[in-house]
Amino acid sequence: MSETLENLSSETRQFPPPADLAANANVTAEAYEEAASDRLAFWAKQAERLTWAKPWHQILDWSNPPFAKWFVGGELNIAYNCVDRHVEAGNGDKVAIHWEGEPGDTRTVTYAELLKLVSQAANTLTDLGVTAGDRVMIYLPMIPEAAVAMLACARIGATHSVVFGGFSVDALATRIDDADAKVVITADGGYRRGKPSALKPTVDEAVARGDRIEHVLVVRRTGQEVAWTAKDKWWHETVEQASPTHEAQPFDSEHPLFILYTSGTTGKPKGILHTTGGYLTQTSYTHHAVFDLKPETDVYWCTADIGWVTGHSYIVYGPLSNGATQVMYEGTPDTPDRGRFWQIVDKYKVSILYTAPTLIRTMMKWGDDIPAKYDLSSLRVLGSVGEPINPEAWIWYREHVGRERTPIVDTWWQTETGAIMISPLPGVTAAKPGSAMTALPGIGVEVIDDQGQPVPNGGGGFLVLTEPWPSMLRTIWGDDKRFIDTYWSRFEGVYFAGDGAKKDEDGALWLLGRVDDVMLVSGHNISTTEVESALVSHPSVAEAAVVGAADPTTGQAIVAFTIPRGNVDTAGEAGEALIKDLRNHVAKTLGPIAKPRQIMLVAELPKTRSGKIMRRLLRDVAENRSLGDVTTLQDSAVMDLISSGLKTAK
Ligand code: WT7
Repeated sequence: MSETLENLSSETRQFPPPADLAANANVTAEAYEEAASDRLAFWAKQAERLTWAKPWHQILDWSNPPFAKWFVGGELNIAYNCVDRHVEAGNGDKVAIHWEGEPGDTRTVTYAELLKLVSQAANTLTDLGVTAGDRVMIYLPMIPEAAVAMLACARIGATHSVVFGGFSVDALATRIDDADAKVVITADGGYRRGKPSALKPTVDEAVARGDRIEHVLVVRRTGQEVAWTAKDKWWHETVEQASPTHEAQPFDSEHPLFILYTSGTTGKPKGILHTTGGYLTQTSYTHHAVFDLKPETDVYWCTADIGWVTGHSYIVYGPLSNGATQVMYEGTPDTPDRGRFWQIVDKYKVSILYTAPTLIRTMMKWGDDIPAKYDLSSLRVLGSVGEPINPEAWIWYREHVGRERTPIVDTWWQTETGAIMISPLPGVTAAKPGSAMTALPGIGVEVIDDQGQPVPNGGGGFLVLTEPWPSMLRTIWGDDKRFIDTYWSRFEGVYFAGDGAKKDEDGALWLLGRVDDVMLVSGHNISTTEVESALVSHPSVAEAAVVGAADPTTGQAIVAFTIPRGNVDTAGEAGEALIKDLRNHVAKTLGPIAKPRQIMLVAELPKTRSGKIMRRLLRDVAENRSLGDVTTLQDSAVMDLISSGLKTAK
């Protein structure tokens, strides 16, 4: 990627932290120095933020890379750290979760109530024969029981594997099989887009495909009719009747905490394994540092689903270990109307909001007038995660949500990294819109060329992690070889993240998306992110996805799928004129080599349920192929919409 373009890193705007936030920040610039002078001592100090039942005797054992052991010999109980100790400290009446159901029903769960529920669930799982080391699948909507189920597993040392509630029978059955799980925790259904959607039938089918599952624990959420099998037990007839006391036993620092499957673009899903002490150390520390969480006053809200790693690390383990008060929302952002998120921020006086660029761009598309109707003055830190946030969306987020006051932390990490790795610190960093800026204290990041050499400032290449970190994946479940091949083989001695990145003249990092998403046009490497960013910087564009399509003359040609903003006229000649204007706009911003061969105006883009654009499908359209597998699409009607409503111009 030597000849990448110059657009993103020529962004010169910079936003220093607000003075009052900087003056009271949890973490200051000193942390970088501290970590630089003794990295392991720095992490040991963060581990001491937790309560250990038995101290470790070695901070890191890296004698058998890439298999790391952190806080060797130490023992702790994760649920104790996330729940009991806050109650013991006198904070039992403090709200842990302000839960908001999609239909508008609410529940408030204090830390004392959370302790009761987690203890009851731990007792029930034990009664069902679950013991330390067993695997439990969790397939639930966004209800408090999801967090309770995860914590109950952690409490008894069972390894949970959460499967996103929108996934199919196939996806669930494969994961049950790979994890060799014996219990599933699910619900009758959950609310999505204004109506109850069923979960239990999917579980019934997936469970019937094998003979591993012994018990299915079912939460009643919607009250809809469900079929019943001999394996099923209602949550309210078991958990809610169980003894509310349970003594948490400590587990080894390297005890397996969870397996989370990443779909990946090829091959069978990878079961990413995370363990106990290091994982909790880094999720807890980063939540404290990156969001500047003040547990006494802040109301925190992460809009992710618990089925993704973001939900694991920044709804359950990070925030609860820090004693946060948080909002948890069950449903979609446009139910009952497009103001729902802002109404929730207003209602609960949310002060820290963590969401994804795809959502921010959707909100942009819906219009500035929607957030403008709500009081968002409680917000003081905004976060972004999941994909590169283009400068345009960053600025919109700051202006229309943060009302020009709040810092934005663009946080780069992966299911595999377990916790945030690259991000601004809100009280320290003068952030540039679109850049994740720098590695957090104690994290080693580098951008290298294909020879494995670090690139100078101004250069681009592959993002790698140069030092083991506490919350790193320990392996791929049951497949050490794949773990080594996937992450540790491309470059000697470093973790290959699979992302392209650039360092600007100041050394700030700009993430460019997956390296598989780089196009080769007439011998030039051009990142899809850069062209998308250029398109979205045009006032008529809400969202764009770019792919490289095979081209007889240029090798690959750039094809862009573009969603116009709501008020833009795209009928007939106006549409043709817009396409022409957009092609010229990209050429002007990035250089003529990046001018898309073709621009299609579309109403929607195909996304996975975690919000990532499925470029594979767009490539099929661009290359006039019939569509591949669309089963992981969030909304499978999207592809019909795209195929039928295309407006193309050459
Ligand atoms: C991939 C990991 C991290 C939790 C959610 C996604 C992309 C993530 C950013 C960011 C640019 C980002 C990367 C990464 N990504 N955050 N702030 N800037 N890219 O977890 O599903 O494991 O995906 O998401 O490409 O490798 P995941």
